[in-house]
Amino acid sequence: MHLVILGAPGSGKGTQAARIKQQYGIAHISTGDILRAEVASGTELGRKAQAIMEAGQLVGDDIVLAMVNRRLTQPDCEAGWILDGFPRTRAQAEGLGTLLGAAGTDIDLGLLIQVKPEEVVRRLSGRRVNRDSGRIYSREELGHLAGPGGEIPAEGEAPDGGRFYQRDDDQERTIRDRLDVYEEQTRPVIDYYEDQDKVVGIDGSQPMDAVTDAISSILRDRFGDGEPA
Ligand code: AP5
Repeated sequence: MHLVILGAPGSGKGTQAARIKQQYGIAHISTGDILRAEVASGTELGRKAQAIMEAGQLVGDDIVLAMVNRRLTQPDCEAGWILDGFPRTRAQAEGLGTLLGAAGTDIDLGLLIQVKPEEVVRRLSGRRVNRDSGRIYSREELGHLAGPGGEIPAEGEAPDGGRFYQRDDDQERTIRDRLDVYEEQTRPVIDYYEDQDKVVGIDGSQPMDAVTDAISSILRDRFGDGEPA
């Protein structure tokens, strides 16, 4: 199973990709997560990527393609994979096509999660991430910590242990810049896969479990039942 999960920042790609990984035992490859790990480790790539990410702009195509190429050769990818946050430009999509073609394979399906921009801003400004486990929390899950204005603290103790923090690019101004970048540079990726008849749309404004059910039903029709990992 070779999947791409598509959609605006904050549409729920990471949340749903983690569930698909769990259900089907395939690798979840998030270029955002790989880049954030490089930043946290202070590697040369991380140092180059940090300012670009904080500004909500895109890291260079060649860098990201090389990163994904390396990641796809790891053993857990043999069972299949879901790409999250990649490809993000038409050049990345074409580069991926060349790479996969050389290995005699291709993308099976693109899952497009559709959510309105104002909902994206609401979700991302309230998103927090567990520093240790990487678990993503919604505004609703941390609602009990909200201040009088409804604001969730940027850092704090996570309900399931460890500490949560707010991503640097989850400030409202940067969220809006990321949405502009998405419209200009990532929309063409959707067109690219639509031209190949590979895109299925999902209403991402539903509650998380309803989105998961909709995706599961699409994957069941296409690939049969998943084996719980
Ligand atoms: P990346 O990490 O890929 O960020 P993104 O695409 O902007 O996506 P997000 O992680 O913000 O959102 P998501 O759709 O995964 O939503 P989530 O599930 O967390 O990229 C970050 C940066 O890295 C880029 O800006 C760029 O600089 C660089 N980069 C990465 N890949 C690159 C590439 N290929 N090329 C170049 N540069 C690259 O959900 C969001 C929130 O909503 C959470 O709090 C969640 O709990 C909540 N939520 C989820 N679903 C629901 C629901 N149904 N109802 C209510 N709340 C929900």
